[in-house]
Amino acid sequence: MAAAALGKIFLLALALVSVIIAERRSYNGYSVLRAKVDNLKHFKVLSTLRDESNFDFWSGPLYGKYADIMASPEEYPELTKLLNSHGIPFSFMINNLETVINQTDALAKTQAEMNWNEYFSTEANYAWLEGLAQNNSNVQVLNIGNSTENRVIKVVKISSGPSNATRPALWIDGTTHAREWISTTTATYVINQLVNNASAHRQILDNLDIYILPIVNPDGYEYSRTTERLWRKTRSILANTTCRGVDPNRNFGYKWSGEGNTINKCSLTHQGAAPFTEPEAQAVRDFILGSNVNWQGFIALHSYSQLWMTPWGYTEDLPRNYQEMMRVANKSVAALAAVHGTRFEAGSSANILYQAKGISIDWAKGVPNITYAYVIELRDTGRYGFVLPPNEILPTAQETWAGIRILAEEIAGVEQD
Ligand SMILES: *[C@@H]1O[C@H](CO)[C@@H](O)[C@H](O)[C@H]1NC(C)=O
Ligand SMILES: *[C@@H]1O[C@H](CO)[C@@H](O)[C@H](O)[C@H]1NC(C)=O
Ligand SMILES: *[C@@H]1O[C@H](CO)[C@@H](O)[C@H](O)[C@H]1NC(C)=O
Ligand SMILES: *[C@@H]1O[C@H](CO)[C@@H](O)[C@H](O)[C@H]1NC(C)=O
Ligand SMILES: *[C@@H]1O[C@H](CO)[C@@H](O)[C@H](O)[C@H]1NC(C)=O
Ligand SMILES: *[C@@H]1O[C@H](CO)[C@@H](O)[C@H](O)[C@H]1NC(C)=O
Ligand SMILES: *[C@@H]1O[C@H](CO)[C@@H](O)[C@H](O)[C@H]1NC(C)=O
Ligand SMILES: *[C@@H]1O[C@H](CO)[C@@H](O)[C@H](O)[C@H]1NC(C)=O
Ligand SMILES: [Zn+2]
Repeated sequence: MAAAALGKIFLLALALVSVIIAERRSYNGYSVLRAKVDNLKHFKVLSTLRDESNFDFWSGPLYGKYADIMASPEEYPELTKLLNSHGIPFSFMINNLETVINQTDALAKTQAEMNWNEYFSTEANYAWLEGLAQNNSNVQVLNIGNSTENRVIKVVKISSGPSNATRPALWIDGTTHAREWISTTTATYVINQLVNNASAHRQILDNLDIYILPIVNPDGYEYSRTTERLWRKTRSILANTTCRGVDPNRNFGYKWSGEGNTINKCSLTHQGAAPFTEPEAQAVRDFILGSNVNWQGFIALHSYSQLWMTPWGYTEDLPRNYQEMMRVANKSVAALAAVHGTRFEAGSSANILYQAKGISIDWAKGVPNITYAYVIELRDTGRYGFVLPPNEILPTAQETWAGIRILAEEIAGVEQD
């Protein structure tokens, strides 16, 4: 008991010291291990580990593929012992995480300039969006809500109008999960193509309104930029715990669960105390339901794993128009691959990733009944994972736009070859 109390005091002191000397969390000596998941026994062991431990599973376990697991230097012996004791083969995906993080820092640039060679702060992204709206009569910035820490949640509407209740519309959002920075840069690239390369996309713009929310979770994104690179959730304050944040992609109110590890407030996939506790998820819901818009498409951008997925996440059963969503998804992944040769897999979320309840595309399909709903897990397949270097921002955006364009053309009724 005395030892435990002393331990606690020591940890407290350590926490204080680390707050004072380093505002930014160090990932020095952290590794990310890739465990092979080539049989059902290993899949079950790793699923249980994900659900019952505090290990940060960057990805998976994906049956027949892999699980990527982050470990601090202190956790490393425990993790490798566990993997070895079950005969689960593993390799290093990332050796020293801090080295990679140091190469991918988001710049705190705030001028209204944009490029796709660097990551930018929320403020810099917003300044750019406002500039686009000032300069282009078909661009509007809509403030659809405020985050827990009172950051504005900004949607860009691109419309050659006139908008009405029958004109089809496509929704695209990014950075629901704070550490998935590549989803914001991909979203802003799409905005830039539609605004500054409009003549190449006339047919889409003439027949379709496009709404893009590049940063669903600005609190989490800023926290990831400034303090803890691998932060995933929102920054909401929870009752009876020092752990913070809810997984916004478990907080949507369709087949929201109340099961498993998502009840655990410290879990990376904490669902919240009830559906739509998070203002960020509320903002998306209220805007989609409150607007008099003919929503035909809903795309949620995430990373990583290179997957182009339809609902459902909550069940392995398939939604009513699965075949139609897959027909378009297959065309999208083919168009994507044609750009830089990057291979994506298409399928339903529960079948090719894993079951997850309360995800935004399930809500988009289940409640507003949006025809085409997809979650896209962008690059890569595990060289860098969440800490994708800046030189992959542009090619990722280019190829993803080629895939998204297929959907936009389908919805806009543009003839394709
Ligand atoms: C990462 O950058 C920080 C801040 O510049 C530096 O203190 C640290 O030594 C770097 N770490 C590695 C592993 O390069
Ligand atoms: C808007 O136009 C001004 C004046 O031409 C220009 O300086 C600025 O870069 C433009 N902003 C954006 C975001 O295009
Ligand atoms: C966000 O907060 C501001 C200032 O508190 C308020 O004026 C605005 O209405 C809020 N936005 C939404 C969409 O709730
Ligand atoms: C809505 O706008 C489209 C063009 O975007 C037009 O073809 C259609 O007739 C309009 N519908 C109504 C009800 O005004
Ligand atoms: C504009 O879009 C066309 C068609 O996708 C593409 O070929 C061209 O490279 C784009 N231009 C720029 C400057 O991105
Ligand atoms: C917090 O703990 C108190 C006392 O145990 C309990 O009454 C309350 O329901 C808890 N609140 C939540 C949100 O868990
Ligand atoms: C999509 O592609 C997969 C793999 O090539 C194929 O098995 C499936 O039948 C295709 N689905 C549709 C609806 O075209
Ligand atoms: C969803 O939309 C489809 C196509 O318009 C329609 O057939 C179906 O009845 C709708 N489902 C619900 C639950 O509203
Ligand atoms: Zn995600």
